[in-house]
Amino acid sequence: MPHAFREVPHRGRLGGMIRVAAGLALAGALLGGTAAHAALDPAEVVKARQQDMKKLGGGMKVFMGFLKDDKGTAQDVAAAAAAMAAVNKGLPDQFTAGTAVGVGESEALPVIWQENAKFRQGFTDLAQALDKILDLPTTADKAAIGQAVQAVGGTCKQCHETYRQKK
Ligand code: HEC
Repeated sequence: MPHAFREVPHRGRLGGMIRVAAGLALAGALLGGTAAHAALDPAEVVKARQQDMKKLGGGMKVFMGFLKDDKGTAQDVAAAAAAMAAVNKGLPDQFTAGTAVGVGESEALPVIWQENAKFRQGFTDLAQALDKILDLPTTADKAAIGQAVQAVGGTCKQCHETYRQKK
């Protein structure tokens, strides 16, 4: 993860200090968590990544709560975006071979492994969309935040359409 410390706090950005905190938390997770991961069986891998996907869903709820129901602040939006970015970094490697539909409750379509680079690009797109939220000025209004949030939602949808089994 060469990018974990890439960002320095830029003053006046919605995600300035938060992004650094997320980077440090991620570094801790990387140092502490990898060995246990390798021992997980495929059904556990599926469960773990679904939990992480749910965390992304939780972030979207914070966004929508702020935009539609006036819940929380722009800082809460930034904190949610930073948390999602940290989760997102770990997601590509949780789609290990042998965890497609048929394993546990997996909804991961086999095409993920047939065009894996394209699939992974979806996580890069999401990371960039989240960065745009963090890069908004602290003075950003709801319209600007809403636009950035919509772009994030678009990356979820785009990936799900191709790579996630429909219910
Ligand atoms: C690059 C692809 C990709 C991106 C980007 C992506 N997802 Fe997913 N998502 C998947 C796949 C594949 C599954 C099915 C995983 C499985 O069942 O193992 C999934 C499953 C989910 C689930 C269901 C988890 C469960 O309990 O079964 C939720 C919720 C979810 N995604 C939310 C999101 C949100 C919100 C975003 C955007 C902020 C997002 N995802 C971005 C590929 C993606």
